[in-house]
Amino acid sequence: MKTLAILGSTGSIGRSALAVVDAHATRLRVAALAAGDNAVAMAEQIARYRPALAAMATVEGVARVRDACGGTSTELACGAEGLIAVATHPEVDIVICASSGTAGLEAVLAAIEAGKTIALANKEVLVMAGSLVMEAARRRGVSILPVDSEHNAVHQCLHGRTQQEVRRLILTASGGPFRDLATDDLQRVTPAAALRHPTWQMGRKITIDSATLMNKGLEVIEAHWLFGVDADQIDVVIHPQSIVHSMVELIDGSVIAQLGVTDMRLPIQYACSYPERWDAPLPALDLTRAGRLEFQPPAHDRFPCLGLAYRALRGGGTLPSVLNAANEVAVESFLEGRLGFTAIPSVIERTMTAHSVERVSSLQVVRRVDAWARRYAREISRGLELIV
Ligand SMILES: NC(=O)c1ccc[n+]([C@@H]2O[C@H](COP(=O)([O-])OP(=O)(O)OC[C@H]3O[C@@H](n4cnc5c(N)ncnc54)[C@H](OP(=O)(O)O)[C@@H]3O)[C@@H](O)[C@H]2O)c1
Repeated sequence: MKTLAILGSTGSIGRSALAVVDAHATRLRVAALAAGDNAVAMAEQIARYRPALAAMATVEGVARVRDACGGTSTELACGAEGLIAVATHPEVDIVICASSGTAGLEAVLAAIEAGKTIALANKEVLVMAGSLVMEAARRRGVSILPVDSEHNAVHQCLHGRTQQEVRRLILTASGGPFRDLATDDLQRVTPAAALRHPTWQMGRKITIDSATLMNKGLEVIEAHWLFGVDADQIDVVIHPQSIVHSMVELIDGSVIAQLGVTDMRLPIQYACSYPERWDAPLPALDLTRAGRLEFQPPAHDRFPCLGLAYRALRGGGTLPSVLNAANEVAVESFLEGRLGFTAIPSVIERTMTAHSVERVSSLQVVRRVDAWARRYAREISRGLELIV
């Protein structure tokens, strides 16, 4: 029996992780849950899974959970300390990191220090502080297992191979809902249209990132940290059907791919079962019904966010943190209807250009740069705001 903590249990990945627990009740149990604001969903999860500890982002959120539960033996905690308490709970073996944004960074580092296995969905953590996270994991002998479907696929393709055998990683991208749209039409894209992803059901922020291709850019940076490969060894290919989850090209030209249905329960389950593989209650992939599988190069001119992520990775140090923070600000403004879709990369590009890169020597540096980039990006966003 493996015991889990889930950071972001009320979100898309968090709920899928709980579905994996339901499917493997004799192998997995939940000891601690953390969420942001959704007290109703958290109260339901507490009633069903009876964790020892549950945390919400605010005191007010905890009060709403308490009201909704009407009496519970689950200990309730809040804020950054609550999130860390969940991530380091003594009963926990694996921490599924699936909170959105950057709130989970300190909790992930604390979980590593506490010797927990990390199942990482929250890629922003590695984008902001990859060197700190990977160094801490090495020092503590902790595994960081990827939940992101592309990295989970690469992890499976690399199984039993040495670094010397690998020529490059090929990450697949669906291309999002606007894959074939002309630049002029991209300018008129609305938040509602951008939130309709063709192949994956996900949280709002990652869905917009998929539409701009920033999600793939963040994944390129994530792959660099997880697999120890340079930017030049990571390629992206657009694959609208999302059946090939990613590939690894070996030095003799052989390409190993991982294929599967588009369901996040699979990579979550593999991260929980690793190094074992368990059966899964999901429909099998039927390639005879899948139709054509297409592969195209990404259109960098129409989707500049991907190139900005490569630039951040090559620039190193604090530049990926700046990319991430400016992107979060721009996406938020877009979702609020204040910023145009094509202005998102402009905000990020201008914030990155204004930044003097520093070495990521501590968490304090990361947080200071993150705060600066958010302030700067907000100013730029205001300057580019739509007249509504
Ligand atoms: N969805 C996918 O298929 C997918 C695939 C690969 C990677 N990922 C990554 O996984 C992460 C989560 O994505 P998602 O799609 O599941 O997002 P989501 O549906 O928006 O869920 C986000 C979760 O984080 C919680 N949260 C927000 N702020 C928090 C805080 N301060 N403290 C604790 N919890 C907080 C939310 O709680 P409330 O809802 O209660 O506010 C919610 O449970 C992202 O980093 C994303 O890039 C997602």
